Amino acid sequence: MPINLIAAPESVTQWTGEALAIAVFATNADQANPEQATANDAKTNHLLRGDLADLDENVLGHTLTELIAEQDFKGEIGSSVSGRVGGNGAIRKVMLVGLGDASKATPEAWRKAAAVAAKWANQTKVKNLGLYFPPFNTDEAVTAQAISEGLYLSLHQDQRFKSKDAKPLTVETITLLSHDASAVSHAIETAAKTCAGVILARELVSAPANVVTPLTLAATAQNIADSCPNFTAKILDRDACEALGMGAFLGVAQASDIPPQFIHLTYRHGNPSRKLAIVGKGLTFDSGGLNLKTGVGSSIELMKTDMGGAAATLGAAQVLAQLQPNDVEVHFIVATCENMVSGRAMRPGDILTASNGITIEVNNTDAEGRLTLADALVYADKLGVDAIVDLATLTGACVVALGEKIAGMWANDDNLAQQISRAADGAGEQFWRMPLEDSYFDQMKSVVADCRNTGSRAGGAITGALFLKQFVDSKTPWAHLDVAGPVWVDKESGYHNAGGTGFAVRTLVNWVLH
Ligand code: BES
Ligand code: MN
Ligand code: ZN
Repeated sequence: MPINLIAAPESVTQWTGEALAIAVFATNADQANPEQATANDAKTNHLLRGDLADLDENVLGHTLTELIAEQDFKGEIGSSVSGRVGGNGAIRKVMLVGLGDASKATPEAWRKAAAVAAKWANQTKVKNLGLYFPPFNTDEAVTAQAISEGLYLSLHQDQRFKSKDAKPLTVETITLLSHDASAVSHAIETAAKTCAGVILARELVSAPANVVTPLTLAATAQNIADSCPNFTAKILDRDACEALGMGAFLGVAQASDIPPQFIHLTYRHGNPSRKLAIVGKGLTFDSGGLNLKTGVGSSIELMKTDMGGAAATLGAAQVLAQLQPNDVEVHFIVATCENMVSGRAMRPGDILTASNGITIEVNNTDAEGRLTLADALVYADKLGVDAIVDLATLTGACVVALGEKIAGMWANDDNLAQQISRAADGAGEQFWRMPLEDSYFDQMKSVVADCRNTGSRAGGAITGALFLKQFVDSKTPWAHLDVAGPVWVDKESGYHNAGGTGFAVRTLVNWVLH
């Protein structure tokens, strides 16, 4: 991590340093000290209570009150006001950043507020920033972890492919003013490990397909396994996959000059009471194959991101290698390859046989992700796990349905769907459950084979999920997450800078931990 994040058991009135950012709720409901809030509200601006009122009056010469009044600051989520402090005081610059309504606060409000403060500090050349956050009726560690995530993730700049440093970070140290500094220190550490996994996923997605190939993903997986004694890595080459009958995966891989890799990482620690599998789509490039992606709408130039599911899978694995949770077994599986064109390419109409014996007529070579996942899901199911979650940039149809922020979720088990939703809430990542409408499968019936790999355009994300469903035993709880929208942002948004977002890493980690 480029920045140094520390916890200090200091009160905000005593803090001295270049710049201070103060997070405030929009409402005057002080969850920790309701009585004090009422008393102070009568005296001063309702956004500034207790220590903050004291700070404004006795340290900052009413700078905060003036900023609030001048700019009609209301503490709305993500909004901010900032200014210089006159006189000879120890603090030179201040910012107020909104957390929104206290009664509706989620960790996501802290992540976003922290990102606003971090960006301000960096843009105004601050080296040392103090960050104050108000008492709240949740664990201070939860708050601190979310704040730390917002800081780490918003300050991550990916300059691997720039010949010159565009703009190096100025921020060196950020101090979280804390009540329980040891709990906050621990939360900072957890956030650092978590964000390193998110950043790994971001950088895998942002790197072009001539840099991140199936071999790179396999090497990344091997590195993760080598970093932690609780991990083992198994990488299967083309021949080993062939021996397992993975005709669907290998059909997609056959046109590429880069060999396919089947990655299987196992994490095991203590006496596992849960055995889980995470399966990620790992197309390091999706040209569409002979059903080539043509025209501007096809986004062929963005198809380096078609391994976003694999990136989330490996990012989560790396986080677990760091956090080393007890009594859980997790399998991380990625069947990675490229979907290319050549004289060896699979043709529209070709019939492939998956490793569970199902024969598939490939009526569209651009519906390749589901072919690779078919064999990966069969492999995962054979491990006898309690639940399987797959993540895939599977369909443009899912992006049309839910937009770029929200992933689709399909599940054959309500309990698992709920677990994912809960994990996602904590992470501030959005998933919307979609129906597994079995009757739509009719579109994928084939004259010559057991099924075809695509249906009509209508309901394309649902038929994608229904295709996958054939490769998981109906008794195995399974969820399919279509992450085609959220793995990438063209423009900076909240705590994500433009590029890969590392979407789903934190949801997966929460799911495994709880
Ligand atoms: N990788 C794409 C899905 C995709 C599209 C991801 C846009 C991100 C942005 C996938 O392999 C694909 O090509 N899907 C087809 C399926 C169709 C042929 C049934 C699609 O969505 O058009
Ligand atoms: Mn495709
Ligand atoms: Zn694809």
